[in-house]
Amino acid sequence: MTRDGADFLQLHRRDAPRGGLTAWLVGAVRTAVADGRLAAGTALPPTRTLARELGVSRGVVVEAYRRLTDEAVVVSRVGAGTVVAPQPGTPEAVVPRPADDAGTTGPLLPARAPAGVDLDLSPGIPDLSAFPRAAWLRAERAVLATATAADLGYGDPRGSARLRAVLAAWLARTRGLRAGADEIVVVAGVAQSLALLAQVVRARGERAVAIEDPGSRGARDALAHWGLAVPPVPVDDDGVRVADLAATGARTVLLTPAHQFPTGVVLAPDRRRELLAWARSADGLVVEDDYDAEHRYDRAPVPALHASAPGHVAHTGSTSKTLAPGMRIGWLIPPPALLAEVVAAKHANDLGSPVLPQLVLAELLAGGAYDRHLRLVRTRQRARRDAVVGAVREHLPTARIGGAAAGLHLVIGFPDDDRDDAELAARARDAGVLVHPLSLHRQRPGPPGLVLGYAAHTPDRLADAVRRLGRALAGQLAR
Ligand SMILES: Cc1ncc(COP(=O)(O)O)c(C=O)c1O
Repeated sequence: MTRDGADFLQLHRRDAPRGGLTAWLVGAVRTAVADGRLAAGTALPPTRTLARELGVSRGVVVEAYRRLTDEAVVVSRVGAGTVVAPQPGTPEAVVPRPADDAGTTGPLLPARAPAGVDLDLSPGIPDLSAFPRAAWLRAERAVLATATAADLGYGDPRGSARLRAVLAAWLARTRGLRAGADEIVVVAGVAQSLALLAQVVRARGERAVAIEDPGSRGARDALAHWGLAVPPVPVDDDGVRVADLAATGARTVLLTPAHQFPTGVVLAPDRRRELLAWARSADGLVVEDDYDAEHRYDRAPVPALHASAPGHVAHTGSTSKTLAPGMRIGWLIPPPALLAEVVAAKHANDLGSPVLPQLVLAELLAGGAYDRHLRLVRTRQRARRDAVVGAVREHLPTARIGGAAAGLHLVIGFPDDDRDDAELAARARDAGVLVHPLSLHRQRPGPPGLVLGYAAHTPDRLADAVRRLGRALAGQLAR
């Protein structure tokens, strides 16, 4: 529900105290949330609109929203604006999702760019026009010609035995994983892996899953949805800081070691060792989100953590970044000690994933069409990545580029600047370019940055996007 103005707060400028306008507005929103007039998920008016209606400066409203965000009364999302957060004591409240017509797109967040945006550089979206339709159709025909009647019944909640066997071989070859078909659970994407693991660790009495900071905002929201605290662990140039992880007291941590989301750093060898030592000594669980490991351009693949400590790592990946997020197919390899509980959770959740897409994916993997598709998109994405890097150097020369060696996005940082990156992203949006501010994926303040997803656009469009971005931010950044 979007609010158009200040009426819902029943606020009038004439009632405001002299000075202290920000505190007045913060108090009014807080009270309205506390007494239930503003339910979780309700969108607050855009700052400009509310400022106009209250007759105050926009800065007052921006500052009030910032304080309310710090107090977790509201949450802000690029494209979706500011919405009332679920409040403690209302366990039924779910983390609000942006409405379809105003959504922020990207990692575990709903698709669709806000009106006025014609270049959506949200991270995590592959080139959907490259979906291998012909190969899929051929594979689907082959599957329908050969699938038995029994294949179409309720099956093993872990998924099709054929897909699991093919996946075991493929993951061994491409990611160095040593997991048998029996240890793999086919899931509806990494999102479902997180949901299943959250349910399992909660049932075991865990109350927190530590996450990277910055880290995927969508993953954070998903874990919070399952009632877990999500203590932030800082990430530096070597990946997650394991000493800080130990200090959280959490025994489960969600990581993106191969290509940290969103910074793009790789977990350094020393950190890997430290992490695995932590996992062994704390009897901990590392959830390894391998979300875009197939996409790398200038470096050798980073071996999956799972291979080094299968008893402490739950490895998960999906076809969301290789085929399309809408496929909702992924895999989860939990440590053996958690397998039965994960399978029970999968069974309780949906009795197993749809069988036909699983069989088709098995056919694509086994016949080599999946690898051919990956080679094709990798070449295309490298050219797109190069186009963004070139355009950033030209139009945003003070920006520092990070995470460009792999993945579907890169990050531009402004280390010597203290600009609010949400403000920079808002300016970009006004110029028709949607980018995520790094702060969207942060729990604690840090240097500003913008995340630029490039996989879904041609080099020309990307160059245009960055040119517009440069123009929109001109004069904003320190020289
Ligand atoms: C960090 C991260 N993990 C996982 C996912 C994908 O989740 P799923 O496989 O459910 O589509 C994304 C999607 O953007 C992501 O950015």
